[in-house]
Amino acid sequence: MENLTPNKKDLDPIEIASRDEIAALQFHRMKRSLRHAFENSPFYRKSFIAHDVHPEDLKTLADIAKFPFTVKQDLRETYPFGMFAVPQNKLVRVHGSSGTTGKPTVVGYTAGDIDNWANLVARSIRAAGGRQGDMLHNAYGYGLFTGGLGAHYGAERLGCTVVPISGGMTERQVTLINDFKPRIIMVTPSYMLSILDEFHRQGLDPRESSLQVGIFGAEPWTNAMRQEIEQAFDMHAVDIYGLSEVMGPGVAQECVETKDGLHIWEDHFYPEIIDPVTGEVLPDGELGELVFTTLTKEGLPMVRYRTRDLTRLLPGTARSMRRIEKITGRSDDMMILRGVNVFPTQIEEQILKCKGLAPHFYIELGRSGRMDNMTVHVECTVDYVEESARATSAKELAHHIKSVVGVSTKVEVRDPASVGRSEGKAKRVVDNRPKE
Ligand code: DLL
Repeated sequence: MENLTPNKKDLDPIEIASRDEIAALQFHRMKRSLRHAFENSPFYRKSFIAHDVHPEDLKTLADIAKFPFTVKQDLRETYPFGMFAVPQNKLVRVHGSSGTTGKPTVVGYTAGDIDNWANLVARSIRAAGGRQGDMLHNAYGYGLFTGGLGAHYGAERLGCTVVPISGGMTERQVTLINDFKPRIIMVTPSYMLSILDEFHRQGLDPRESSLQVGIFGAEPWTNAMRQEIEQAFDMHAVDIYGLSEVMGPGVAQECVETKDGLHIWEDHFYPEIIDPVTGEVLPDGELGELVFTTLTKEGLPMVRYRTRDLTRLLPGTARSMRRIEKITGRSDDMMILRGVNVFPTQIEEQILKCKGLAPHFYIELGRSGRMDNMTVHVECTVDYVEESARATSAKELAHHIKSVVGVSTKVEVRDPASVGRSEGKAKRVVDNRPKE
């Protein structure tokens, strides 16, 4: 694989500024953003008054801890536009995140917000190894989901040639990759695996494809999966993180030269890690829930938004800005089995250790008596389909899960191509426990 370490002169100066410079900029922007929220968003005015805080109480960055959290429920209760801090005619776009309950939560952007977002995604693509003039295949879904348009505007801003293919129609994805010869692909990691299957189905060698960099995100994935994809395509695989409530893709990005977690673009987002139970702020390095305060957003400023994503804050490496470790999972996806916390990413990691298994899986939760139980449904690879090979793989996986994760599970090794494929975010957990 090509060495893609960027030239320092191509970076935004703030990416490699001193911590003092970054903190000074953050403080100035945070103050302005809190004032904007207080003065222009009825929701925040009410919430600050109810918690007896005022933007002028912010004397240092750490004072942000005096302000109340914002949660997804606040967006639901103010649906559709109740949290916005500008009149609707100042918004140039809305997006939404798909709720399981029917109504999406709606977010809105001013022209200035879209401009910042495009710059940050351009910065992210550059950190991943992309550059002006690259052909970029964008298989994130276009629509209310922020992935497609977010990636698109950023890629154009960097000066790439975008192929706006969106998700789905996998056969055509492979045809266009072959014909247009993109250097970069942006897609969820689980959909990249479907694209990989399609390469094989068409008798094509993915290692011969033009792809050199994959920018994967929108769902949790592991370093084991990185290796799998890098091997399969002979390409770099890097992680991109974001969420619609805070902006969309490009809140944090892994650098291709280090691949050691994702640098948060701290000039626009102020991160905290909190204890998800007590809400207390934790020191850098500790595992907890990621919380963001936006520093420049006009349409929908967010103060201490609880992401429910679990990770830790780490010092900067390739950039001065702090990193987050790869996301372990969302607190909503955490399963508790006999007192042990389990995340789908931990299962993914163990599956990738077993030779006869493919990383296509889902976890089924059930109940026997008063105990919850877990069955991992996972596909075997085409050369390990025989009964005895499957039994060995099942035993091996159950053993790894027991010894590393600490829980006993049933393993069902299924036929190749029998587990549903994702065209976007994969659904990893099927909860068949009886409702209380
Ligand atoms: O998924 C934005 C996005 C699009 C990010 C494309 C990256 C690429 P939402 O649909 O609002 O926005 O979902 C946000 O997805 O809170 C995480 O739980 C999860 N997520 C996003 N990126 C990652 C990642 C987009 N790199 C939610 N690793 C977030 C793990 C991720 N989880």
